[in-house]
Amino acid sequence: MAARNPDVVLVTGASSGIGRACALHLARQGFHVFAASRRPAAELAGQLRALLPPSSQLDSVTMDVDADASVRSAMTQVETAAGRLDAVVNCAGFGIGGAIEDTADEEAHAILQTNLLGTLRVCRAALPILRRQGKGTLVLVSSIGGRMGLPFQGLYSASKFAVEGLAESLSMEVRGLGVRVVLIEPGDFQTGFTDRRARVRASNEESAYHEAFERALAVIEADERGGSTPEPIARLVERILLSSRPRLRYTIGPLPERLAVHLKSILPGRAFESVLRLYYRLNASRPACGSHVSGGRRG
Ligand SMILES: NC(=O)c1ccc[n+]([C@@H]2O[C@H](COP(=O)([O-])OP(=O)(O)OC[C@H]3O[C@@H](n4cnc5c(N)ncnc54)[C@H](OP(=O)(O)O)[C@@H]3O)[C@@H](O)[C@H]2O)c1
Repeated sequence: MAARNPDVVLVTGASSGIGRACALHLARQGFHVFAASRRPAAELAGQLRALLPPSSQLDSVTMDVDADASVRSAMTQVETAAGRLDAVVNCAGFGIGGAIEDTADEEAHAILQTNLLGTLRVCRAALPILRRQGKGTLVLVSSIGGRMGLPFQGLYSASKFAVEGLAESLSMEVRGLGVRVVLIEPGDFQTGFTDRRARVRASNEESAYHEAFERALAVIEADERGGSTPEPIARLVERILLSSRPRLRYTIGPLPERLAVHLKSILPGRAFESVLRLYYRLNASRPACGSHVSGGRRG
């Protein structure tokens, strides 16, 4: 294990995927990690500690980012136990698939509640501690879907575009107070995200979008399942926390997906839209018989 770094890091969404990889990697590197999820704290701590050397410092707190009282209580537990907080890595979140027209109000509220307002609650609860210390880092996990609207992931993209705006504004407000705000924009990674994706209830055979949605979703899921495991994101988070001057945003993932972000900045809007329509098989009038979707690369 590397030399102990005494920094205290709270990781949300630490029971699975990107958050879990970050919690384990940072604890192995000597950070004092507080792993948060909605699961009972003792259960999560036990599962993660079993994968760590005995000298690692990993504690757990129960936190539902949808509930302000839960976020504040967990933050108080961290501050009481550790006496400080150096960084927060906001990973809690989920996806939703379905046509925008088919999305009900409560489905839209649910994803904004967690992905946008959950991130806001956690940052808001951490900021008084970071301001008092005159130092700290807030890492917000956004998505490449927060840089470009993805078909049939409209509310997910909306939640991540909103996280991007929140982070840009917050960064300017707190920089003079010693607090750094960093966005991470992952492309497709293999995590629990794909199986947990909510599906818009009205995305059934009655929907005008049913066939196009199923074709696009098959491409999306194949790309996610074919992605890397999330350890590279955990190593990136470590580099960010150790950097004296981290950038505002880091895009990470398969090269074609990172290139798509650049392509969007240079192509006319309609031309870029055509590329995405082609990639997500939106041009076919009905599914090609026997060759549903094989999930190629974005580009
Ligand atoms: N995987 C990808 O390809 C990808 C790409 C771009 C961006 N992202 C983003 O990366 C972040 C992490 O996703 P992942 O891929 O690691 O997915 P994941 O494996 O499904 O993990 C999601 C985590 O979020 C937690 N969570 C969900 N709702 C919560 C809530 N209300 N309160 C507290 N915790 C909550 C879950 O914990 P419990 O359910 O145990 O509470 C779980 O630990 C998300 O923001 C996602 O949008 C993922």
